[in-house]
Amino acid sequence: MNNQITPFPEKRLDARIMVVEDQDLTRNALTDFLGSQGHRVDCAAGGQEALEVFEKGKYNLVITNLNMPGMSGIELIKIIRTMDQDTLFIIITGSLDARYSIEALRMGIHDYILKPFDFEDLSKSVASALIADKRIKLRQEYNNILERKIFKLDERFRLLFFDSVQSLVNAIEAKDPYTSGHSIRVTMYSMDIASRAGLSYETISEIGLAAQLHDVGKLGISETILNKPEELTLEEFGLIKKHPLLSCQILKPIFKNRPLEYVRHHHERWNGKGYPEKLSGDDIPIGSRIIALADAFDAMVSDRAYRKAMREDRALDEIYRERGRQFDPALVTHLISTVENGSFEDASAG
Ligand SMILES: [Fe+2]
Repeated sequence: MNNQITPFPEKRLDARIMVVEDQDLTRNALTDFLGSQGHRVDCAAGGQEALEVFEKGKYNLVITNLNMPGMSGIELIKIIRTMDQDTLFIIITGSLDARYSIEALRMGIHDYILKPFDFEDLSKSVASALIADKRIKLRQEYNNILERKIFKLDERFRLLFFDSVQSLVNAIEAKDPYTSGHSIRVTMYSMDIASRAGLSYETISEIGLAAQLHDVGKLGISETILNKPEELTLEEFGLIKKHPLLSCQILKPIFKNRPLEYVRHHHERWNGKGYPEKLSGDDIPIGSRIIALADAFDAMVSDRAYRKAMREDRALDEIYRERGRQFDPALVTHLISTVENGSFEDASAG
């Protein structure tokens, strides 16, 4: 055995190493040698003892004999991997069986050393393992910093986005005092109906967003027309009918395609007699059908410039009569459940 020691290339790697070896002489020699190189070394005489030691501390590197009584080195590595993915391994063995060799490679063992080994080989192998360990840790650290930065940036954009949405909602409601609280109620009804219809979380969120701003295009329509107590002329109604497209123009820079489509078609009717494109049935995006229903119900039960609020049961009767004509019949059933469930009474009062 050659006891000449090559200078350790990275003294300050702060390595914690565990030596697992059933032969006392080899175990003690390895422990003393690695300790003399400045590492903190623990040792175990077998797999079971190694697991007990491992549970108490975090190790950069485990150097283990392959063939030991009881638990083999491969079995030990498999168990340690379930406890800590990052630990590196060096195998020491008297003879390298081809099956073990392939399995060891598959398991990503850093290196193996054949007995009888010399300390120079061992020193090089340990140094290379610890440099690899350092690289892994640096990469993890870098990824964590990057993830945190992206999360912070994403959070800032998200907050900025929702602030912009809220400003637009405030702008709509400031223009038409009768619509105070309308956006939030339509949003809550829409999301509840969407949830009852079994839609995905992402779709429900997009419907909620579209519901909040579906009428933002009314900012481009005269208040005299919006708040007119008398019946609208055909020309005035023509102007009102432009608001879904105006909403889309306003929202295009901040909305994705699907919520934009929900806004665009929120005045289509199930029977094809709505606007702007006279779509019918399932051709109308699901989000638009839901918003249309929630919007109509909330408008009926709220005071408007041209009429007083209707009672909820009467509004539901009227909507029920319109199922299959103005509204998607399946969704009408969900709206009835939403209202009868009563979870939005507080919001409706707002
Ligand atoms: Fe509308």
